[in-house]
Amino acid sequence: MAKKLYIKTYGCQMNVYDTVRMTDVLAPLGYETTDRPDGADMVILNTCHIREKASEKVFSELGQLRKLRDRRESEGGDRMLIGVAGCVAQAEGEEILRRAKHVDMVFGPQTYHRLPEMVAEALGNTSGRGISDTDFPVESKFDFLPEESQAHGSSAFLSVQEGCDKFCTFCVVPYTRGAEFSRPVTAIVDEARRLVANGSREITLLGQNVNGFHGEGPDGKSWRLGRLLRELAEVDGIERLRYITSHPNDMDDELIQTHRDLSELMPYLHLPIQSGSDRILEMMNRKHTGDDYRRVIGKLRDACPELALSSDFIIGFPGETDQDFADTLRLVTDINYAQAYSFKYSPRPGTPAAGIDAQVPEDVKSKRLAMLQELLNAQQISFNQSMVGKTLSVLVERKGREEGQLGGRSPYMQSVFIQAPERLMGQIVDVRIETARPNSLTGSVVTGDFGVLDAHNGDDAITAMEARI
Ligand code: SAH
Ligand code: SF4
Ligand code: F3S
Repeated sequence: MAKKLYIKTYGCQMNVYDTVRMTDVLAPLGYETTDRPDGADMVILNTCHIREKASEKVFSELGQLRKLRDRRESEGGDRMLIGVAGCVAQAEGEEILRRAKHVDMVFGPQTYHRLPEMVAEALGNTSGRGISDTDFPVESKFDFLPEESQAHGSSAFLSVQEGCDKFCTFCVVPYTRGAEFSRPVTAIVDEARRLVANGSREITLLGQNVNGFHGEGPDGKSWRLGRLLRELAEVDGIERLRYITSHPNDMDDELIQTHRDLSELMPYLHLPIQSGSDRILEMMNRKHTGDDYRRVIGKLRDACPELALSSDFIIGFPGETDQDFADTLRLVTDINYAQAYSFKYSPRPGTPAAGIDAQVPEDVKSKRLAMLQELLNAQQISFNQSMVGKTLSVLVERKGREEGQLGGRSPYMQSVFIQAPERLMGQIVDVRIETARPNSLTGSVVTGDFGVLDAHNGDDAITAMEARI
């Protein structure tokens, strides 16, 4: 009988991708995924270490899992294996094994291709202490992962680059993910082809520094991300391309040009700056100024005038003054974002910024964050409102909350809801936008690739009129 596997994913898209690949690794061992921990034969927490709150969740979740596992055992059930994966495992593996004796396996983001061996070892382990594998192995996990064993949905992630050599002073990623590494172009294109064959129409290339990509091309030379995107745009069936997350310093001209040239490349870019103050950017070791960033954005907008922008901001970095914060507000006003993420600075163990004396008091951080978020929300709302009356292409991905409602994404990553038959799931349809909300849009389907639908379902063909409902 199939064994049940439950993986809970925290953190960034890279972890989402890793979770899918872990299920691929465990499938040959007879594990099938389930969407709840009770009744599971194996539970894995795929964790994030980026801010304190993210890390803390792991220990409280592990407490819950212990209860679940004890109950299962007292009811005479099979053993439940508990694993902790991801960035907290990498950073605090020993601490987890010490504090949570019921954890069977701890492994980092670079070793999960070895899961079959770990599971075998954990099942035979009677030492009372879990096993751990948090190496940065010389072999790349990508060379050992099995081919994808499942459909990844109409919009899929594809990891092309991992790790980070930039060492921003606030950030744990270089320590948890290790040094920068880019996959070879051929392996990426092959994976993209398989994703398309399994029904994906949109592919988002992932990397902690995705535009730092420098993978080996089929010609033996090092290819940058722009060249890779051009190659992928040629793959039959790929209709939309995205990439995340980029660093301003790696936004080279070739990549900027792809925003002008490739219709498959969606006009939306997440390009974090973190702060608008040059003094803070320097202390963060970002190696660029606010004006450098403005120049890059200017070039991007020249190449693609409709480009919508997003960023991350850290508020209350040690030493941040009112003036520094005012510089951030000014930069946000100048750029005018479609949406953005903002966080209070969280001191992370082992990072240089955590040791700076001039930490900003919590209440100051909270006040500044609220002000920044007010500005960003206003920009997001006016961006969404500017869509009303326009027709956007929407990749329909999921059911909405209301009866007969489906949800998808616009080219600009907005959630768009439509009333439409379920047959439109996985299709790209044109939607005329009628209302804008702070976090979503609603509209009516005006056209779509119904020819495909008709071919599948002759009697049941729908017209644009019916789809409007
Ligand atoms: N590689 C990406 C970011 C990865 S981490 C980049 O260079 O932009 C995702 C986001 O988390 C960061 O952009 C930053 O805004 C936030 N972040 C990272 N470390 C943080 C910390 N110590 N406190 C608060 N936010 C942090
Ligand atoms: Fe972290 Fe900076 Fe690397 Fe981004 S570029 S992952 S913020 S160290
Ligand atoms: Fe978190 Fe690791 Fe991603 S720390 S943000 S899961 S790279």
